[in-house]
Amino acid sequence: MSIKIKLTISYILLITMIIIFFGVISTLTLEKYYIDNIIEILTSQGTSFSRVFDSYIDADIYTISQDVVKNLATDTNAQVQVLNMEGMLLGDSTLSSTPVPVKILTPDVIQAISGESGVYTEKINNERVLHVSVPVKNKLNYVAILRLSSSLEEVSNIIKRLVLFLALVLTVSSLVALIIGFFIANELTKPLEMVKEATQEMAKGNFKVRAEKTSNDEIGILADSFNKMAEELGQLEEMKNEFISNISHELKTPLTSIKGFAITAMDLVEKNSELYEYLNIIDEETDRLSRLVDELLDFSKIELNKIKLSFEEVELDKLIEDTVAILRPHASNYGVNLICKKKIDRVVINGDVNRLKQVLVNIIDNGIKACSRGKYVKVFLDIKDKKAVIRIEDQGQGIPQEEIKYIFDKFYRGKNNKYSGTGLGLAISKKIIEEHKGTITVESEVGKGSVFTIELPLKDR
Ligand SMILES: Nc1ncnc2c1ncn2[C@@H]1O[C@H](COP(=O)(O)OP(=O)(O)OP(=O)(O)O)[C@@H](O)[C@H]1O
Ligand SMILES: [Mg+2]
Repeated sequence: MSIKIKLTISYILLITMIIIFFGVISTLTLEKYYIDNIIEILTSQGTSFSRVFDSYIDADIYTISQDVVKNLATDTNAQVQVLNMEGMLLGDSTLSSTPVPVKILTPDVIQAISGESGVYTEKINNERVLHVSVPVKNKLNYVAILRLSSSLEEVSNIIKRLVLFLALVLTVSSLVALIIGFFIANELTKPLEMVKEATQEMAKGNFKVRAEKTSNDEIGILADSFNKMAEELGQLEEMKNEFISNISHELKTPLTSIKGFAITAMDLVEKNSELYEYLNIIDEETDRLSRLVDELLDFSKIELNKIKLSFEEVELDKLIEDTVAILRPHASNYGVNLICKKKIDRVVINGDVNRLKQVLVNIIDNGIKACSRGKYVKVFLDIKDKKAVIRIEDQGQGIPQEEIKYIFDKFYRGKNNKYSGTGLGLAISKKIIEEHKGTITVESEVGKGSVFTIELPLKDR
């Protein structure tokens, strides 16, 4: 999960938690406020109603209760009941006649029997009802209990509406948090993203890349350290390339004179003598060394971007035929058949003949070396999608899957490679093909062989 998403989720979680927390607290507080209010109203109504009984004596209460209750009910929204001090129901404002005497002994009534106002909430028919019982005193004794009951349905409705409103607020603010959070996260991670891209670019081998420093915070410091590292690596890389370039130049001169002297000396000795044989070996080995030095030189030129391609019209069909003809004796030495198969007669591209030839030699040479005696290396030429397609197929040992991704790397040599080499052939070839705006790819199966495919844009007419 990216930092951006993590940050956004954190914002939303935080906001949701805060809203839920305050929602629960405010709902509970509001509910308590409403209920306390109702209790207060009912209690004060009960207390003021109790004066009605001042002029009655115990005995009367039984007879007048129902009337009293009826009169009082006009001054309140609550249900009014009169009970005696044992909790027996004497009058009820919701009933038209004197009620059947039943005992009500809910906690509020029990509290009132003991001489103090009592409060009790219960659920009747799925509706919350609040009872307030107030003991009534006539001068000397407690004579009755006034019980006022009010439905809490309205409070429940208010709370329900509040919860609904809070849910709406929660949804809207979560959405807003999502948008703002994503925006902030985006802003926060943008510099990090740039540093990330720079590191990825450097991992590909581009030491010239620099991360842009947009702030002085930790990310800014990261960008600074990265840039310093990139600079140092770049310098090291340059030093290495310069070194390779210088040393190869230095090697070239003595090599040329060794070869020159070996050839001169060969003219001076007898053809079949032992000495002649030795001089011949010196000559061949100097050639090999020269080729190696040339490769190193090429490589450093490419790395230092000093390679200059001279583009001209190139007839690929001819170039391939020539190259194959040149390499055929080399293939025969290895007992390998080198075959050229053109599907098309004339293929013209824009390119550097010598460099393209170098690529063909590199790849065909790899193919020949990978084959055992009696096998084939075939070179095909075709045109597809306005591109020249060169396929070089061999029946060699193949390249293990885990090595394929490295074979175009500089200095990489396969583990099963029996021949000496610098491991630069394919790295150089790839660079050259890329300079031609083409591509080079490989498919291979161990034990069956490999296919290298080069695609080059055709010359526009
Ligand atoms: N056709 C092929 N079949 C099997 N393995 C191959 C083939 N072509 C390349 N390879 C593997 O890829 C490696 C890299 O090839 P590359 O041409 O870059 O270097 P090299 O041939 O070892 O040395 P150089 O070409 O510089 O003399 C080789 O060492 C070899 O293991
Ligand atoms: Mg090679």
